Amino acid sequence: MNKKTVKDLDVNGKKVLVRVDFNVPLTSSKPKHITDDARIKAALPTIDYLLENNAKVILISHLGRPKEKGDKEFSLKPVADELQEIYKDKFHFFQSDDVVDEKVKNEVDSLNNGELCLLENTRYDKGETKNNEEFAKKLASLADLYVNDAFGTSHRAHASNVGVSNILPSAVGFLIEKEINVMGKALEDPKRPFVAILGGAKVSDKIGVINNLISKVDSILIGGGMAYTFLKSQGKEIGLSLLEEDKIDLAKELLQKAKDNGVELLLPVDAVVTDEPKDGAETEVVDIDSISPDKEACDIGPKTSEKFAEVIKNAKTVIWNGPMGIFEMKEFASGTNSVAKALVDSDAITIVGGGDSASAIEKSGYKDRITHVSTGGGASLQFLEGKPLPGIEAIDDKEN
Ligand code: 3PG
Repeated sequence: MNKKTVKDLDVNGKKVLVRVDFNVPLTSSKPKHITDDARIKAALPTIDYLLENNAKVILISHLGRPKEKGDKEFSLKPVADELQEIYKDKFHFFQSDDVVDEKVKNEVDSLNNGELCLLENTRYDKGETKNNEEFAKKLASLADLYVNDAFGTSHRAHASNVGVSNILPSAVGFLIEKEINVMGKALEDPKRPFVAILGGAKVSDKIGVINNLISKVDSILIGGGMAYTFLKSQGKEIGLSLLEEDKIDLAKELLQKAKDNGVELLLPVDAVVTDEPKDGAETEVVDIDSISPDKEACDIGPKTSEKFAEVIKNAKTVIWNGPMGIFEMKEFASGTNSVAKALVDSDAITIVGGGDSASAIEKSGYKDRITHVSTGGGASLQFLEGKPLPGIEAIDDKEN
């Protein structure tokens, strides 16, 4: 990567504004609790490095999509509580519904070297998502230097990433560096065989990824709801399974493109079907040619899992994005779990895109045995599509 990293900055005694992605999942009931703190943990190496190197750290993040400034539903308080546990009296939560005001400025100025603070949700200010210059200036006025470590937000061009990068001397943090290095290496110079496993509900969400990967991988394994549009394009009866009518021709084209590129593309050969996907639903495993008109396929079947596992076993690089079925319901979680198990059983470099696949791997208990689980949902998809990430593009280039 040709971007400056935090190690290229002299941070000693400096106020460093750090954009992190603390957009973490919370319980719906109050008091709100964090249900998965992976994004907080992933930001700690950069924060710790800055504190050890005597900086004053000002953390900023968005959380959810608040409509009103100061909406308590979207307060970063639960995140502040976790940081307080970790950093004890070195940590401060400087709260304002305006994110930055005179009081916050004075509080930030009172930080000692080696201390850190968190400000309130950047989306409390309407200017954030519009990349408004005034708001970017307000944020920048707090600090001497800027570090972006919010990989999960890097596909957005907002005031707290792109806007501030244009004002302060900037660098990326260790998390962004790792995300780009691991995924970039896999795309540019993969150990082969290189296998992509793609799932999730919609073909339309994955068109860009398939198009970009088709010239790079040796095999593509397709599961999840999106598989049924491909199967339909081959003239199969898919019953009530998910179908994007307007993507049937595209699915046909992608199958042809895979053939033309000499890429092995595997679709499900069997499926777990039901009358209605719900907890406790009655299920049945059927061959892919035997889905009856009144049934919906909600997971790949065991024969498919076995075929996919065989390909994964021989792979040297695997990228996985999107679950194989409705994994949130235990009746339809087997396919996704078996792919997770195949990943940890292989010797390959294993990379799991964020979002649903990251939650699935977390749920499966195998997370620690995966080479890299991305903290970005939309961001990792955009990266795998081969498109630039504005939040990273805006960072200063390394000097030669
Ligand atoms: C994410 O969770 O994908 C990022 O934090 C970005 O959030 P957003 O989709 O609300 O911009």
